Amino acid sequence: MSELAILGGPKTRTEKYPDWPVWDERDIRAVAEVVRSGRWGGFPYPGPKTAELAKKFSELQGGGYAVPMINGTVTMEVALRAAGIGWGNEVIVPAYTFQATASAPMAAGAIPVIVDVDPHTYCIDVEAAAKAITEKTKAIIPVHLGHQMADMDAVMGLAEKHNLIVIEDCAHAHGAKWRGQGAGTIGHFGSFSLQSSKTLTSGEGGILLCRTPELAAKAASVIDCGRPHALGGGTEDANGFSVMGANYRLSELQAALALVGIERFPAQAKQREEMAAYMDEALSEVKGVRVLKRDPRHTTRSFYRYIFAIDPKEFGVEHDALCAALDAEGMGCWVGYEAMHNYELFQPQKSRLAVPNAFPEYFEFGKMKFPEAARACEHEAVWLDEAIFRAGTKGVDDAVRAIKKIGANAQELNQAADELRKKYGN
Ligand SMILES: Cc1ncc(COP(=O)(O)O)c(C=O)c1O
Repeated sequence: MSELAILGGPKTRTEKYPDWPVWDERDIRAVAEVVRSGRWGGFPYPGPKTAELAKKFSELQGGGYAVPMINGTVTMEVALRAAGIGWGNEVIVPAYTFQATASAPMAAGAIPVIVDVDPHTYCIDVEAAAKAITEKTKAIIPVHLGHQMADMDAVMGLAEKHNLIVIEDCAHAHGAKWRGQGAGTIGHFGSFSLQSSKTLTSGEGGILLCRTPELAAKAASVIDCGRPHALGGGTEDANGFSVMGANYRLSELQAALALVGIERFPAQAKQREEMAAYMDEALSEVKGVRVLKRDPRHTTRSFYRYIFAIDPKEFGVEHDALCAALDAEGMGCWVGYEAMHNYELFQPQKSRLAVPNAFPEYFEFGKMKFPEAARACEHEAVWLDEAIFRAGTKGVDDAVRAIKKIGANAQELNQAADELRKKYGN
């Protein structure tokens, strides 16, 4: 019998990793309190729970003026609108990210200009970004991917030189710090998602951290149907509509859940960080595995997912086969995003959507090359579930044991993977 669970052998771990989201009676009480209050919705904006969430979240990240809203995609669109960026402007985004980072500029009417990533961090390559700047470039969106942070010193240096607005996509970076400063408080805006997989969640939701009260008031107007908002919160005049906006308000029920999540967050973040350091050490000894570089300026790491890379030749299999095998061994695992130029959304010749066809000169993705993002996405990146860290040292040991076991049986797995590829034509 094979040693590998995917080929019928015994699983490395039969015990389930802890579920996400974590909840208890506090969440139920918090939601019940809002239900009983009768104040469920977000209007007038902000409601009491939403205002409390804004305060507590900016305390958690260590700065910024927080504007809670419905998700971590509109946060970026709203940031662009609040900064006056839209039609005809270009916004630089990295090639390795969720599509939202590039579709948010499109929703604001701007053009996402995609650049490659740094192979050591998988975050935006700032030199590539510098080469992509034109007179139309108005903003840059560095993404803090998985458990990494973009080089914010280089990003801010580039932004100052070219007068760019910086929107940090912090969908994965709750609690992260760069030189002791909270992610999302370094640029002009920090965009956070509270969607259900994120390390702080209200089911769905988002928070935009703004550098100034003026930007926060503008963002609040955009998400509150265009009503003028006073600096520091509250509506100036409920009947006056000053800017084009829509209802992107967070509900009080969601804010209540996020507030309980904030109570739990510090202990969870500490455990993830400690266990990830333990994982770094254990994985650094595994043949064919590359632990991603930790920049010493990245002083606090957060772990939406733990990303490592393999050298498929040295490890013996491609990342898709490793992930499938790890999953069978009992570890939640994913190959990660596709490189941006492979998204159908950005290929007018394939896309069922009309929007990208509006910018044919920008969307000749067949001609675009992002070799570092392509290598990560197509061959080497492995994204492990953060639940592994919430299972303590045993959780990490099991995952490392499974990775080693797969490496030791790579030849057999590779053969089986080749047969499957032949059978299913992939
Ligand atoms: C990097 C990144 N940016 C933005 C988003 C969008 O967040 P939301 O799903 O809350 O719109 C996500 C969500 O998965 C993400 O991973």
